[in-house]
Amino acid sequence: MKILNFGSCNIDYVYSLQHIVKIGETETTHTLETFPGGKGLNQSIAVSRAGAKIYHAGCVGNDSKMLTDILQKNGVDISYLKTVDTKNGHAVIQVSSKGENSIFLYPGSNEKITKEYVDTVLDKFDAGDIIILQNEINNVDYIVEKAYQKGMCIVLNPSPFNEKIHAINFNMLSYIVINEVELSEISESTEPEEGLVYLKNKYPELKVILTLGKDGCVFVNANQELRQAAFKVDVVDTTAAGDTFLGYFVAELSKGTDYSQILKIASAASAITVSRKGAAPSIPNKSEVLSLFDKLREIKSNNKNNSLYEQIEGYIEQNIKTANLAELSQILGYSTVYTGGIVKRLTGETFSKAVLSKRCKMAAHMLLSTNFSIHEIIHMVGYENESYFRKAFKKKYGETLSEYRNKRCN
Ligand code: RIB
Repeated sequence: MKILNFGSCNIDYVYSLQHIVKIGETETTHTLETFPGGKGLNQSIAVSRAGAKIYHAGCVGNDSKMLTDILQKNGVDISYLKTVDTKNGHAVIQVSSKGENSIFLYPGSNEKITKEYVDTVLDKFDAGDIIILQNEINNVDYIVEKAYQKGMCIVLNPSPFNEKIHAINFNMLSYIVINEVELSEISESTEPEEGLVYLKNKYPELKVILTLGKDGCVFVNANQELRQAAFKVDVVDTTAAGDTFLGYFVAELSKGTDYSQILKIASAASAITVSRKGAAPSIPNKSEVLSLFDKLREIKSNNKNNSLYEQIEGYIEQNIKTANLAELSQILGYSTVYTGGIVKRLTGETFSKAVLSKRCKMAAHMLLSTNFSIHEIIHMVGYENESYFRKAFKKKYGETLSEYRNKRCN
């Protein structure tokens, strides 16, 4: 199975501003950066960085070296890409200090796609191959019809939404990867849940992936609905988050990964993208996504360990006279052998040593802060055999109990 992206390539001019400029307002910025971008190019790079082979078709202008370079460097096959004698498409992007963006587009070369060129490219693909489309090029409706006739699996990202989307026959699509704004435009409802029902009723065969930014994403097909929460990161720039999601979605789809795992991987990848500046350069490769999973697993296991450690300490402290491994293992719900292992790993001591240490610590505290006699204290921490505890205390603190108590007067 091959993957083709028939899509846009843009030069992104990114201006960093305090906030997105409102109507009638002027703001000055001295931060202008130029990045390779365009939804099509970003998605192709995401597919490739996710580890799948992709062909990118579309039209670039005579100033597109930066774009063809990054596509090639990322292993995207550009043998079907066409160079036309015009200015390349570009995007002017404002990024606020909160990472939000606002974009306007100059389509340039992206609107030079002829039907003949479409036919030539699609001739190289077969039934079952995947085709990715967005709405930044012309003739998308024609490409959909031709790809459908060939039996290709069509994945549409109806972005940016405009009247051209209405010309596309949604019955021909296999997947639609859509955001809340686009969904409300198509369904004429501001409620995403209603929008999903609308699509399900009108296009029962269509598989819908709704991306909801910090609220995660939803996958709906005829017989299942899956939800994935977003990964929390510090947002730097949300540009290309949706493109990264789509690219990873398609790459994993082509590998036969199951839908819930696909959503998890695609969400993690787009979370990494929003934590970085720019479009294409901010897209992670698969190993970075896997390291994010490792990091999260480590945090989870540290949290679990912290809570186990607190449970062990709390149990010994509250049962200082009677603490025993059998009871602790019952409380934690593990076998005694396993519990003993956990105690050793988290406290660095065997269970009996950990109890003894805690008893010495409590005795030391009472010696300094109460008037109980040494004899009473030894009994209070659970010892009938005074000489055993006296020896253990001396070993731990290097002083006898009376020498330790004497410090109270200094
Ligand atoms: O989705 C992000 C992209 O949208 C940018 O790279 C910009 O080129 C616009 O097309």
